[in-house]
Amino acid sequence: MFKLRSLLFFLAFGSFLGARSQQSLIQNASSRCIQTLNGKWNYIVDPYEMGYYDYRSVPYDENPKQTDRAYYTNTKPKDKSERIEYDFDKSPTLLVPRDWNSQKENLFYYEGSVWYKKSFDYRKAGDGKRLFVYIGAANYRSDIYLNGKKLGFHKGGFTPFNFEITDLVKEKDNFLILKVDNKRKADEVPTLNTDWWNYGGITRDVQLIETPATFIRDYFIQLKKSSSDNLGGYVQLDGNNKAGISVEISIPALKVKQNIVTDANGYALIDFKVSGIKRWSTNDPFLYDINLSTTEDKTTDRIGFRTIETSGTDILLNGKPLFLKGVSIHEENAIRGGRASSREDALMLLNWAKELGCNFVRLAHYPHNENIIRLADEMGILVWEENPVYWTIQWKNPETFATASSQLKEVISRDKNRAAVIIWSMANETPVSDERMSFLRRLADTARHFDNTRLISAALEQHATKENEMVRVITDPFAEFVDIVSFNQYIGWYDGLPDKCSKITWKIDINKPVIISELGADALGGMHGDSLTRWSEEYQQYFYEQNLKMISKIPQLRGTTPWILVDFRSPRRVLPGIQDGWNRKGLISETGNKKLAFYTLKKFYEQISLKYE
Ligand code: GCU
Repeated sequence: MFKLRSLLFFLAFGSFLGARSQQSLIQNASSRCIQTLNGKWNYIVDPYEMGYYDYRSVPYDENPKQTDRAYYTNTKPKDKSERIEYDFDKSPTLLVPRDWNSQKENLFYYEGSVWYKKSFDYRKAGDGKRLFVYIGAANYRSDIYLNGKKLGFHKGGFTPFNFEITDLVKEKDNFLILKVDNKRKADEVPTLNTDWWNYGGITRDVQLIETPATFIRDYFIQLKKSSSDNLGGYVQLDGNNKAGISVEISIPALKVKQNIVTDANGYALIDFKVSGIKRWSTNDPFLYDINLSTTEDKTTDRIGFRTIETSGTDILLNGKPLFLKGVSIHEENAIRGGRASSREDALMLLNWAKELGCNFVRLAHYPHNENIIRLADEMGILVWEENPVYWTIQWKNPETFATASSQLKEVISRDKNRAAVIIWSMANETPVSDERMSFLRRLADTARHFDNTRLISAALEQHATKENEMVRVITDPFAEFVDIVSFNQYIGWYDGLPDKCSKITWKIDINKPVIISELGADALGGMHGDSLTRWSEEYQQYFYEQNLKMISKIPQLRGTTPWILVDFRSPRRVLPGIQDGWNRKGLISETGNKKLAFYTLKKFYEQISLKYE
């Protein structure tokens, strides 16, 4: 299952990146949380980066005489004469986890740096315990400090990062400071241009994670590809006493107790057979309690076992063909406003998807929070996870690739044990070029190195043939390297009117499953007219009727994730009285009202179920 040498290379490579930005992720970190740092944090808005650079734009990190000017030192005036021009404790507060845009009107459009400060006490880590700070996500770049010392930085707005603070933490009055900068940049991932709101801030949970001196830092336990009884994966220990250690893997419900011994790097392969595994499935999302233990450490997780593969044009879950009745979702609670992050937010979104008749969700266009992934595991909803390689990325820039690659590795590291996750998507609607091909192929190789149990896809390019505008083809060369051919198409919205659908022929000469990863039309909830009145619910309903008829003619069609479950905020959508800063392609409005098209898609999925189940 793993080419050990290449995996060790990747692990080493990963830790190299860790040195550059952050350390390798602690698996199932929340199970080790001993103190949440969620709640009110003091903040300072710093568009000119005053807290980071002196007036000659020299970083304070490089200017020891001036460091008390740096906000991350949290310096207080020594006496009545000293000049310190900031004070976190007198500054206002923001809630964490939560973006800043939806909390403060004057930050609604803000793009820049915000400094966050949280003070905390910590009972001294006794008997060699280690302490880490774990941040679920912060958009986009975070520089993180504890008690005035720099821990490191992280780039990427949608994946977790953690740093060890064992040697820096005190019993009283620790201050954790993050500078979070959400400025969009051409060489970042995503790049400048997106169709979603650039929510900034610490948008997911912040936790203190305590572990023994040598602990189980990472593990991967899944059914081997196409196997019914062979569990594969690995365990990775971290600490001075990691070599030659016996790790017990127990699965009580299967009466399994397996012992494996770590090598000099604290790494041990998992590879054993066990009969009677009850498969995780969408109809019966069974999760096993798994215990991993050494003499020093014990951790538990809930893991589902299933296989996912393709055979010709079929997608097989546990060897059985299925149709992915899906919907695309942005990570937003449109009713409250702002980034979704809690289990309650996830419940709202996935319950709507269930009501629609979905067994599948495309979490666009970036990794969503862990709550929705864990809930999908429990609810039996299959998941497409996506790396934010979106539109016009800087394909030739090695730094851009490193950032895309680290974000992909982070989401795979975090979610590799979640049965619900079946597809890693490399990109969305990216223009074909040699550099883009090289970039995406290397990403796909990275994904397959870290996890060859799941399927690879991407929203590929489609186009009309030169000879006939009504014939559509997929000539995107990346189609050769994905397991599932997916693409977005908006015939009837961006491309003609809905009745154009009946004139279109899809000529897809590829023997792979096809997912239509986007189709959609805007409708202002509550606006009514005839089926050709743009922005009306009737137009959107007619669009869906015509589109679903059209795509049903594609013989390889095995799923669709229409765009999108709920209206979402986008600075690109400015039509007064209709959009007002919202993309209106939701099947549900931002007030939670279902539009006519919601029921059109629901009916389509009911009919599909009759064919497949
Ligand atoms: C594109 C893109 C989406 C966007 C949608 C739209 O396909 O992938 O991110 O929101 O079209 O235009 O509404």
